[in-house]
Amino acid sequence: MAAVDFPGPELGIMDIVRTVMSGTNPIAEDPLAFCQSLFNRFGDTVLIDSGLRRVYFTRDGELIRHVLVEESRSFPKSSPYREASLFLGNGILNSEGDFWKSQRMMMQPEFTRSVIAAFGEAMRRNAQNLHIENQSAPVDVSLLAMHLAFANICQYIFGEDFHRNESIIREALEFGNGFISSRIRSLIPLPIEWPLPDNLKFAAHKRALDKVVYAIIDARLQRGVGEPKDLMDALLIAEKRAQNGKVRREQLRDELLTLLVAGHETTGYTLAMALYHIAADADLQERLRREIKTHLSDAATPIAERLDKCELVAATVDETLRRYPAAWIMGRRVTHDREFKGRRLRGGSEINIPILALQCDEKYWERPLDFIPERFLPVNAERIPKQAYMPFGTGLRKCIGSLFALQEMQIAIAEIVGKYKLHSVAGNVPQTEYVFTARLKAPLPVRFESI
Ligand code: HEM
Repeated sequence: MAAVDFPGPELGIMDIVRTVMSGTNPIAEDPLAFCQSLFNRFGDTVLIDSGLRRVYFTRDGELIRHVLVEESRSFPKSSPYREASLFLGNGILNSEGDFWKSQRMMMQPEFTRSVIAAFGEAMRRNAQNLHIENQSAPVDVSLLAMHLAFANICQYIFGEDFHRNESIIREALEFGNGFISSRIRSLIPLPIEWPLPDNLKFAAHKRALDKVVYAIIDARLQRGVGEPKDLMDALLIAEKRAQNGKVRREQLRDELLTLLVAGHETTGYTLAMALYHIAADADLQERLRREIKTHLSDAATPIAERLDKCELVAATVDETLRRYPAAWIMGRRVTHDREFKGRRLRGGSEINIPILALQCDEKYWERPLDFIPERFLPVNAERIPKQAYMPFGTGLRKCIGSLFALQEMQIAIAEIVGKYKLHSVAGNVPQTEYVFTARLKAPLPVRFESI
């Protein structure tokens, strides 16, 4: 017997016309409410068939595993990644198959625990350099966290070359991110080749950024790379080794930009949300401070080792990643008709795994909307529903920068909470915008007071 379709809403032509005319994207407006209502009405996997596009949403742990882990090579990344490639090219976030595998293998050694741990002191210095001069006015922690995450990733990639080119890199990334996000949000993005004002601005920023990145690559190639001092040196050496002494400049540019983009807005958003919650909960803040004082004062031990003892700091980061996953949704393409548990998965469709909805689903979590770091303390580890927690994705395409991100956020919290008392500002609720990744669309003020 032929497999039947997964259930889903019947969409009439007027529903589609209404959505197109309103210019809104219902899932991006409120992903939690959207997914919960779908799952409650139709079950764990739902097919939305508009006639123009077929999209599945699933919270079924087995299907998620099938797509992201067991059969991951048969489910390539979905359409938003194609938009991202307009900016990032064919780096490891967007590429597929053997090409992706060789790039990932080349970069993986730069993201191991020991390499990231060795960068801990640099992360600590960057966090210590955050001075809040005017403490009578609240500070936008969204900006502050983004600034810190940007400094960390740029320094990791470019080392000393970063400071000389900071403003060009920063402006181009800001514009590029916003531009790609608005293309993903719009239901029918216009061709990028059309001479529209934003297309032209995007092209100009991209040119400026490319110029800087290629100049750094070329200067290093001319000078020759000895003992690697940063990730760029390490990649140049690995690239030469893999390509018989040659360097694919364009490929290197794509990988570096991918790391820059993937590695700072995500962390910036998460850290801002963590600081917001720490400011709002005086008891949590005090317990964090006690833990930080107890374990971080021993300057002779490397920071990464001292952090291992700060269980509440780690749990606060983990809970922030659960409640506010920057990668709020992950999508894959179904390339051809196939079956799963007797149901049909239609070729040409896409499967969305709504991480935010999964990590805040009462089917899996107690009090899912409350911010409770204690659920991630080691004593409670058994109770975490692992199939419903994947802020860094899972399977072969799991985030390459997860250790980097966790370490920089833990260090930032330790340094900031150790030095300042944080006070929340009444009436300020974070306003998240759901585009390619989640990000804050308005400043998030918190007041800092030196201790
Ligand atoms: C809180 C911070 C971060 C979050 C929540 C996050 C989340 C994710 C997720 C969910 C994926 C998988 C996407 C998919 O499978 O479709 C991913 C991939 C990736 N992330 Fe992160 N990320 C973070 C920080 C970073 C950092 C700091 C870097 C770089 C240093 C980074 C670099 C990457 C790259 C290169 C990929 C693609 C990996 C591949 O496909 O092989 N991310 N990230």
